[in-house]
Amino acid sequence: MNSNSEISYDAVPYQSFPYASTRPANIYTVGTLFGVAAPDFRSARVLELGCASGSNLIPLAFQYPDGNYIGIDSSERQIEMAKKPVSDLGLKNIEFIARPFADMPPLDKFDYIICH
Ligand SMILES: C[S@@+](CC[C@H](N)C(=O)[O-])C[C@H]1O[C@@H](n2cnc3c(N)ncnc32)[C@H](O)[C@@H]1O
Repeated sequence: MNSNSEISYDAVPYQSFPYASTRPANIYTVGTLFGVAAPDFRSARVLELGCASGSNLIPLAFQYPDGNYIGIDSSERQIEMAKKPVSDLGLKNIEFIARPFADMPPLDKFDYIICH
């Protein structure tokens, strides 16, 4: 059984938007300014936790075809909403998974993990 907050996102999906502050290009720039050898954002492997219906991640996958993107959200309805534009755009570098974080099997390593 899901928690009440998870049930509500299936009943009333969150309005999903792109968020500039979570873009790997921004994180890369800030990291570089602070002397961190950040991975190339154009070919990065990116995980988004709580991706809702994917509006933050899908534009990245479209803009950077050499990157690889995974979005996880416990709301099955929102994940189904995310899969439609991925299919329409024919994107092969992005995957959406409907599952609570706590139930995720171990994943490969990521260059950037974002959560808004
Ligand atoms: C406030 S919304 C934010 C959505 C999106 N990140 C944004 O900023 O537009 C939080 C999202 O996290 C998901 N979520 C909350 N707890 C979760 C959990 N334990 N496992 C997976 N997803 C979870 C919800 O289903 C919801 O889509």
